[in-house]
Amino acid sequence: MSVSENRNIAIVGVGSSMSKSLAIWLASLGWNIALVSRSGKSLSAIADEVRRAQKGKDCKVIYRAADAGDPEILKATLDWCVQELGDKLDVLSYNAARVAPSDITETTPEDLEQDFKVSAVGTLVAGQWFANGNARVDRIVEGEWPLFLITGGILDKEPEPIMASLSCVKAASQTLSRLFAKALPERANILVGMPLITGALVNPTTGEYNQEFHPDRIIPKLFKPFFEDRENRRDGKQGWTVERLY
Ligand SMILES: NC(=O)c1ccc[n+]([C@@H]2O[C@H](COP(=O)([O-])OP(=O)(O)OC[C@H]3O[C@@H](n4cnc5c(N)ncnc54)[C@H](OP(=O)(O)O)[C@@H]3O)[C@@H](O)[C@H]2O)c1
Repeated sequence: MSVSENRNIAIVGVGSSMSKSLAIWLASLGWNIALVSRSGKSLSAIADEVRRAQKGKDCKVIYRAADAGDPEILKATLDWCVQELGDKLDVLSYNAARVAPSDITETTPEDLEQDFKVSAVGTLVAGQWFANGNARVDRIVEGEWPLFLITGGILDKEPEPIMASLSCVKAASQTLSRLFAKALPERANILVGMPLITGALVNPTTGEYNQEFHPDRIIPKLFKPFFEDRENRRDGKQGWTVERLY
């Protein structure tokens, strides 16, 4: 199966890991890409790298610094993405989270509240925004569906005391994703996909990538099937796989 060229994606929560590898792969297919996270400096460097991956293809790579944990800012930023890309989105990737240890005996209420805003409230706001007329649904007649893609893991089912805050907020964001997966295909003609990574990408002791979980392996094996499967859907939403594990 192949993935169409020249589509539109916004990625919320962009860093040096899976989001960057996803953007680089899609740039090589000529996708127009909007990148959103809080650090403009980091976004500028990542956008340069993503542009280099276009290999002569004429597509837009734009970025904006914004806090996805603030609903009004997130909605305004996503509106800006659509405006700048010049069309609705084929895929909205919600990837923002604070991936960091927090021991259950030391996590503060403020940490938990802040992480909840980024992971859970952001997922809610992004999904509702996408369903509210911002997804490209006019290719469904050709079998191509828009996709809301929310990155997750297994901390919702196997919480870790040293990752207390992330475990809690991922349980909330993954429940929201599963609820969207039940509602959005019917109500908004949007498919929902949950790429779930079963291990840590980076070894906390060495700071190096665990080779098995390198983003350049995860994108083709875990993310690409969602992009392939949202196209050529002869049976519409029937048979769509919401959750995939890597
Ligand atoms: N890394 C892992 O081991 C692992 C394992 C399983 C699942 N996951 C999930 O995979 C996703 C991506 O993780 P990743 O490690 O690959 O990271 P990544 O794609 O490199 O980037 C995630 C980015 O999110 C941004 N972010 C954090 N808070 C934000 C906010 N309030 N508003 C906007 N952007 C924000 C951060 O950039 P700024 O600081 O510039 O905002 C961060 O660099 C996460 O949802 C994570 O839970 C990761």
